[in-house]
Amino acid sequence: MTQGSPVPTPPTAADRQRAEQLRTLIGYHNHRYYVLDDPEIPDIEYDLLFNQLKDLESRHPELVTPDSPTQRVGDAPRPEFSQVRHRLPMISLDNAMDDEKLAEFHRKVVQDLENSDDVLYTAEPKLDGLAVSIRYVDGVLVQAATRGNGNVGEDVTHNVRTIKSVPLKLLGTDLPEILEVRGEVYLTTTGLEQVKTDARLSGDRDYKNARNTAAGSLRQLDPRVTAKRPLTFCCYGWGEFSGERPASQFDMLKRIASLGVPISSELQKVHGLQGCRDYYEEFARRRETLGYDIDGVVFKVDRLADRADLEDTNHHPTWAIARKFPPDEELTVVEDVEFQVGRTGVLTPVARLRPVEVGKVTVSNATLHNMGQVKEKDVHIGDSVYVRRAGDVIPEIVRVETALRPADARPVVLPAQCPACGSEVSRLEGEAVVRCTAGLKCPAQRKEAIRHFASRRAMDIEGVGDELISQLVDKGLVNSPADLYDLTGEQLVSLDLQGDKSARNILDAIERSKTTTLDRFIFSLGIPEVGEATAQDLAKHFRDLDPLCAATQEYFVPRGLDGIGRKRANAIQALVRSGQGPLPGISLAKWLSSQTLPGLKTRLPANVVKVVADRFTTFDALTRAELDELINHNPSRITGIDEKIASNIVEFFGKSNNKEMIKKLIRAGIQWPVAEPSSSSAHVKHLAGKTFVITGTLSRHRDEVKADLESLGAKVTSSVSKNTDYLLVGKDAGSKLRKAQEFGVMVITEEQLAELVGSKS
Ligand code: IVH
Repeated sequence: MTQGSPVPTPPTAADRQRAEQLRTLIGYHNHRYYVLDDPEIPDIEYDLLFNQLKDLESRHPELVTPDSPTQRVGDAPRPEFSQVRHRLPMISLDNAMDDEKLAEFHRKVVQDLENSDDVLYTAEPKLDGLAVSIRYVDGVLVQAATRGNGNVGEDVTHNVRTIKSVPLKLLGTDLPEILEVRGEVYLTTTGLEQVKTDARLSGDRDYKNARNTAAGSLRQLDPRVTAKRPLTFCCYGWGEFSGERPASQFDMLKRIASLGVPISSELQKVHGLQGCRDYYEEFARRRETLGYDIDGVVFKVDRLADRADLEDTNHHPTWAIARKFPPDEELTVVEDVEFQVGRTGVLTPVARLRPVEVGKVTVSNATLHNMGQVKEKDVHIGDSVYVRRAGDVIPEIVRVETALRPADARPVVLPAQCPACGSEVSRLEGEAVVRCTAGLKCPAQRKEAIRHFASRRAMDIEGVGDELISQLVDKGLVNSPADLYDLTGEQLVSLDLQGDKSARNILDAIERSKTTTLDRFIFSLGIPEVGEATAQDLAKHFRDLDPLCAATQEYFVPRGLDGIGRKRANAIQALVRSGQGPLPGISLAKWLSSQTLPGLKTRLPANVVKVVADRFTTFDALTRAELDELINHNPSRITGIDEKIASNIVEFFGKSNNKEMIKKLIRAGIQWPVAEPSSSSAHVKHLAGKTFVITGTLSRHRDEVKADLESLGAKVTSSVSKNTDYLLVGKDAGSKLRKAQEFGVMVITEEQLAELVGSKS
């Protein structure tokens, strides 16, 4: 054995005990310092404890645990971020930009809860950072992920571990087996100042705004870089939780705080709309003195059982709203207006501005959307204009200060040719926009299509950005997204690659992108008006690409009339075919509303009368109506796909060049897991196509139950109607149960559902 290297001795029971004690003590003092901002011991004593633990661990490496405070910063940079599928989706908030929208939100809550006006809300500031979900198992931090697209985010565990206010181990002894806390990672004003100073010292670029700097700091492959950024965390919600269900948002956040996780010191309960308004006004006043950036305040229905009775919208909860502050506005000058060609060929006027600082970011371009807006706002080149920037959206011109218009101001003229390729431009009937007619032959459209395809939320090909795409297209190496998969190392080496990009890394990223998910793939195709959420809906519904490609317009578009089922349709036909039409001079609507429907012994409600009369206008036309034209049915039952989007989808998959491109992509090896219905037992088939509504508190999280039902082919909607097949009831069911009884909808409990799907047998 080499001289001098001490023979490692196994730790004694006392060493073990001391290490455990030190970890707990340091965790406790860490919380006092970083979370409560109320240290009990001087820094020097804290350092002493920390060094004792480090010393003990270096003598006995087997004493190191993942939750040890010495283990905040790992060493090796990661090669890439891996993906994390959120067990419960991370949804985002709907925004109220003004008081009217807030009042509307409140009205809807009151209406759905059939409650007095005095709804209790929790109120918090809306922090301007980025959302993460942090998972604790038996009290130990095991994973942290960004929100990503709401379903899948990036694994940022190693970076989140470096945030001092995030406990590596929860405090106390009564720890839940599983707890996912959700909240915002952000920088305080002094934190941002520190990053800026460090950046200046190291000659780095200047960081202007707290949100982007926080996001950039968290999305670092090297956790040592993140560790140098004074990021902090504030919890405002939770995901999976195995403990006893709390009664309210407020109670749950207090419980989370008692486990050592920071929550907002401004968390309050407020009563009704007036309480929300007062809270908003208070923060509009205090905004500048908080010491961190906020872009509004958030209100959430406090009682968790109440949330169960609120209708869901597609992508936002109806039990919460963000009341946002009005965006910042500044005055500057329009130096020129140029036309940019977008992914679908649309020419968008973009104002080149004299650079001006708006909300801590320098703005030098603003979109004018379309020529209609240029006219409406009466923007001339040379005008002084107010520019607005809200959050991360593209800045826009609010209005012209006409009093300041110079004599030589010039009107904005729409070019007759595409500024990128010189092709004719055309205005489609019924559209406010003008497009370049060259399609993917136009280099600008080609670049945009490829940029979209490779972007983070689509195929996520790291390193394939604007600059590279521009070179690839200009050199004729890539003409469509599918061509990316033919690129060779030599071709890439021949380009002028910027910064730390290497041909190898780019090829690797392209190769990795071949394994994807169906929703990402659909989104990446760039079908007009098919955004991420619609792509997710389509993927979920069709499960694979072929059935989606084969879907016809009829498949998507609901037929028949709102409010008319088979019974009413039959009754209307019987009524009109019995020949007793309206007397001359009496409108179809008036006549219909006076008629008792044969067999049903009721009249049609006013709203249904209107729908029928608007569609058929005359009695004669109505007598000729087929049952199919009357009965309301939506074969696809995918919400949110209107006629326009449906025709975009059908048209896209009908075009031969798109078919070719998709074939080529598949041949290149692009693949995704195909979701199979999770069981094919005979019982389960009963559920295919059935519509469920859930009410009350269930034994599992509602989203989990919903996901299970959907995986069995059932559809879960938010409000009870006569089309509902089953109402699944939990504890404290309210108005939905009453409605279901009214409509004669089958009511079942969780146990009965379990029997129905055969999971108990
Ligand atoms: S609640 C289901 N509360 O704002 C509700 N969000 O869409 C989920 N944010 O992604 C969000 N402060 O990044 C909530 N007190 C707060 C918040 C907050 C900031 C962010 C969060 C979210 C986005 C809103």
